[in-house]
Amino acid sequence: MKSEAEQFEKVPTTIYASAGEASRVLAVEVASLIRKKQAESKHAVLGLATGSTPVPFYRELIRLHREEGLSFQNVLTFNLDEYFGLEPTHRESYFRFMREQLFDHVDLPSSQIHIPPGTVSRDRVFEACQEYEAEIERAGGIDLQILGIGRTGHIGFNEPGSSMESRTRMITLDGITREDAARDFQGIENVPRFALTMGVGTIMNARRIVLMAWGENKADIVRQAVEGEVTDAISASFLQKHANAQFLLDAGASQSLTRVRYPWLVGTATWDRSLIRRAVTWLSAKLKKPVLKLLDEDYNEHGMSDLLTEHGPAYQLNIRIFNELQHTITGWPGGKPQEDDRYRPERALPFPKRSLVIAPEPSDELRAMGGTIDRLVEQGHSVDVLFLTSGNLGVSDDAAEHFADVLKELAATRSSSAWKEPVRYAGQLLDDLEAKGPFGEDNQSLRGIKGLLRRGEARHALRATGLDESRIHFLDLPFYENGRYRRFHPQEDDQEALREALTKFRPHQIYMTGNASDPSSVGGVCFSIFRQVMEKVAKRKWRQDCRVWLYRSNEKPLGVYEIDMAVPMSPDQLKHKVKAVSLYATEELSTGQRDRAVARYYDQLGLANYEAIEAFRAW
Ligand code: F6R
Repeated sequence: MKSEAEQFEKVPTTIYASAGEASRVLAVEVASLIRKKQAESKHAVLGLATGSTPVPFYRELIRLHREEGLSFQNVLTFNLDEYFGLEPTHRESYFRFMREQLFDHVDLPSSQIHIPPGTVSRDRVFEACQEYEAEIERAGGIDLQILGIGRTGHIGFNEPGSSMESRTRMITLDGITREDAARDFQGIENVPRFALTMGVGTIMNARRIVLMAWGENKADIVRQAVEGEVTDAISASFLQKHANAQFLLDAGASQSLTRVRYPWLVGTATWDRSLIRRAVTWLSAKLKKPVLKLLDEDYNEHGMSDLLTEHGPAYQLNIRIFNELQHTITGWPGGKPQEDDRYRPERALPFPKRSLVIAPEPSDELRAMGGTIDRLVEQGHSVDVLFLTSGNLGVSDDAAEHFADVLKELAATRSSSAWKEPVRYAGQLLDDLEAKGPFGEDNQSLRGIKGLLRRGEARHALRATGLDESRIHFLDLPFYENGRYRRFHPQEDDQEALREALTKFRPHQIYMTGNASDPSSVGGVCFSIFRQVMEKVAKRKWRQDCRVWLYRSNEKPLGVYEIDMAVPMSPDQLKHKVKAVSLYATEELSTGQRDRAVARYYDQLGLANYEAIEAFRAW
């Protein structure tokens, strides 16, 4: 039975505090399915997915195997999809992914593994797909199908337009899907254009289906799939028609569901401060009316009469929220000394402050808060930027090749024998690049060079904000330097390195990001390390006097109701920021639009009309 709060949801949906918690619950379900089938001397047939989403779930299965003796001897697996044209040994093939993430760590016989054959020749694709379907049928159908969801709403690789009856077939990947895979493949040009995927119909035949989604980036597409119409524009919406499908979400991915975002529409809401602000800004946006012009009937007609009873009338409520929003705006992110700070986001004292900007990867800091860094420096605070990783995974082979070429050219124009070594080194670099090809894995020396390039860029770009070079620090957390996208294993030493750094800086304010990211992304891993470290230092004196401001880098921007500090920028300041960000030459970035959009929201609410705003949320 659906609860009142879930009335907009057309498929059973459960929200957990974290991806880890949801994954553990699912792993328990899968383990009991496997054991039940064992007891009946039958196979358990699992449909599996790749990507970031199931990673914590596979880790939990491995743990159950190692620590609780869960055996996979009676399991048959069918993966959803595979890139067309990739050898099973290819670094990014789903076959290799599955081996690294699960198969190599449990006792699943390899003859019981099935993955669509990415290397079949084009003229055999149809036949191979039919064979895959037949194999699933011979296994008696899938007992439990695991799914993730793409930003296009795809399940498997069933991109928009896939019909509910579609079967295993070759498909052209959507542009957004290829963009999302670009980092794994070190550039969108390396991402395959085609894939083989189970069809929506194949998936729908599973006896039970569980779709997992983590992080705020997935929140909007999850809402459309769960609450919207069934449409072939969003394959995941077909799950509404399945008798035993369920969505498992973490808090981030649930953010756009009506029961979370607009709880007053689905029952009696508890009108706390943050909900009131959300409701009023929502109403203002919906009616396209500035906050100060909202009327009692506007509230009453939109399910908020209890809000008026508790906090009305509209006139008073409007003024209160207007003032609150007004007070989030400040040109003094480090606090304004010698001013009454009761209504300012940041306290006036101490002044100057030790401000620590933490960036998971170089460019996060400038993209999200270049203007704010400018101001902090200008206003005399002691600002340090701490990069948790070198960002070398984001540097293309082209950039490394370019560097080696320049080094060679330069050396060729110098006669001194001191240049022999750099020339040899550049040659080695070019050889390494050629040997590994576009899909190969970077060796440590290549990663080292890419890291150097990225660091150089970071210094160059940050200098434009007036920050002294001695204030730029690289922590090179081991989880990143020894890992790869979607294959990060953070350990104690990561926490230790960050704890040491924080203890050294003893900041009065910290700027950090990643809380809204997918937990297995660089930002997500970094935030979780950060959270654990902050718990460890909770009793330290500096910690008790330290405020943490969360910013958004490439995740979903903060909603206007979530903003606790809004730092406006003039057209010139924005230009300056965009210029500084563009100095990160090895990555394509588009800056400016987002900052302008936040300013537009403020304007629509009836507040001052700025060119651009950088937004922060208090942690
Ligand atoms: C993977 C798959 C895809 C992914 C989806 C989400 O086998 O079929 O549908 O589940 O693209 O990817 P992540 O989990 O990386 O966000």
